[in-house]
Amino acid sequence: QQLVAPTAAPSAAPVVEQTISKEVTILYGSQTGNAQGLAESAGKTLEGRGFDVTVASMNDFKPNNLKKLHNLLIVVSTHGEGDPPDNALSFHEFLHGRRAPKLENLRYSVLSLGDSSYEFFCQTGKEFDQKLEELGGTRLNERVDCDLDFDEPAAEWLEGVIAGLSQAQAGGTEVVSPTAVAQETDTVYSRTNPFRAEVLENINLNGRGSNKETRHLELSLEGSGLTFEPGDSLGVYPENDPTLVDSLIKELNLNPTEEVQINKQGESRSLKEALTTNFEITVLTKALLEKASAFLKNNDLKELLANDEKVKEYIDGRDMLDLVSDFGPWDGSAQDFISILRKLPSRLYSIASSLSANEEEVHLTIGAVRYEAHGRERNGVCSILCADRLQPGDTIPVYIQHNQNFKLPENPDTPIIMVGPGTGIAPFRSFIQEREEKGAEGKSWLFFGDQHFVTDFLYQTEWQNWLKDGVLTRMDVAFSRDTDEKVYVQNRMLENSKELFEWLQEGAAFYICGDEKKMAHDVHNTLIEIIEKEGGMSREDAEKYLSDMQQQKRYQRDVY
Ligand code: 2AM
Repeated sequence: QQLVAPTAAPSAAPVVEQTISKEVTILYGSQTGNAQGLAESAGKTLEGRGFDVTVASMNDFKPNNLKKLHNLLIVVSTHGEGDPPDNALSFHEFLHGRRAPKLENLRYSVLSLGDSSYEFFCQTGKEFDQKLEELGGTRLNERVDCDLDFDEPAAEWLEGVIAGLSQAQAGGTEVVSPTAVAQETDTVYSRTNPFRAEVLENINLNGRGSNKETRHLELSLEGSGLTFEPGDSLGVYPENDPTLVDSLIKELNLNPTEEVQINKQGESRSLKEALTTNFEITVLTKALLEKASAFLKNNDLKELLANDEKVKEYIDGRDMLDLVSDFGPWDGSAQDFISILRKLPSRLYSIASSLSANEEEVHLTIGAVRYEAHGRERNGVCSILCADRLQPGDTIPVYIQHNQNFKLPENPDTPIIMVGPGTGIAPFRSFIQEREEKGAEGKSWLFFGDQHFVTDFLYQTEWQNWLKDGVLTRMDVAFSRDTDEKVYVQNRMLENSKELFEWLQEGAAFYICGDEKKMAHDVHNTLIEIIEKEGGMSREDAEKYLSDMQQQKRYQRDVY
């Protein structure tokens, strides 16, 4: 739908026909679903304002169509060491490669998501923004980099985009009326309005003597109207450890009952409550140190801040209690302290159950995070809340995060290969429960690994029963610390490389869930090695084979 602006006086020569477009394309690159959610809601808002909007995953967009676009919005997150999400990889590579076209007619804007406690904060968004400029594009609105608490900056970005689009729209087109669109949902509960789910069950899956503690949590969704599919995640809003909050308030020399304002809307509560439920106190960032230095008059902090390397080293594994005790006394009010903190973000866990197998319930598999650093015991905020303090009967605020990047094949006959060591097993329990419930015929193959067979085989009897019943076709396990030499899931893959490649040739979908840095990386390389060897291909062709699988959604990862 292109509108041609009325040209000026007919005598004016040369006549330049100015085409203006109400078409807006929104491309997202999303790993956990946040960027996708924002792209979709931006799409709805823009449609409500009269734009003709297409929203798509970067993976589903044909880069050859790039030159035809007039208005492009990019919503993309950043992962690990500044990497693009999986479904942004091929588009990112295309834009940065030799085949990238000149884009002089393109107007664009980038919304990037990230976590400021990582060094390469919003790196992928920055790269897209810069590249589109280099290719000749013009910004509709400046890029906005969002931290974990992205709702407000994202809304501001969208307002700026709408202003930019409307401005460029001017000159003959009808001005679009700013009507808000009602969001269609089947539940009133969402990330910004979580549901308080009751804990039905909370057990440790590991046996006595294990190095690990893995919690199996069952929560009730009764009355919430919340639904999900296998592969989706549950967002959980945790609370900070009350003992840590008490120590911090003491170190600050502030009154725990003093009222503080917690948001722009003016809601208030006691300092103790605010630090328990609303703000992050366990992660330090450089930006936070800078803000804190206004209230921590100790010169050592200013000295530290002058040296980026020293800052990086200091913030690693330390928290607010360390900061205040190392550089205090705190020379500010309770409100000053609140004003420097980030909101306590929710945690996403891959759902471990199928809704058709367990109606109105959601199950999670959570690894308890405990370690020692800088002379003190440290606890993962959410995992230790679940492990130590959450009892059956308690409630906890949750929401569903739909994940389009980790889905069972649409065809129930398609074979699936699942690699999920440790807590990476979670979504595969959901997959198999679902396939059992639906009577799916497709073959399935699980690779599981953990430290010890006796204590760490998560959901062992369930897997063995599924194997016996034929719901699960094959299972290969690797217990890394039962033998002198370590064996990992990828060793089992290699041992079965011929058959594994046959499954791929039959169209199997391949899934990896779990640790990103080491495991998922090694499994990825092993997979390429297997394709190379069994398919008689060059390394390059094997990589192409795998990226084609990714494009066909037959290679999916849920990694963290
Ligand atoms: P490890 O801790 O004995 O080295 C689940 O945590 C399992 O994943 C454990 O058995 C762990 O072994 C294993 N693991 C660690 N690093 C891995 C890697 N790079 N690839 C595959 N598995 C790995």
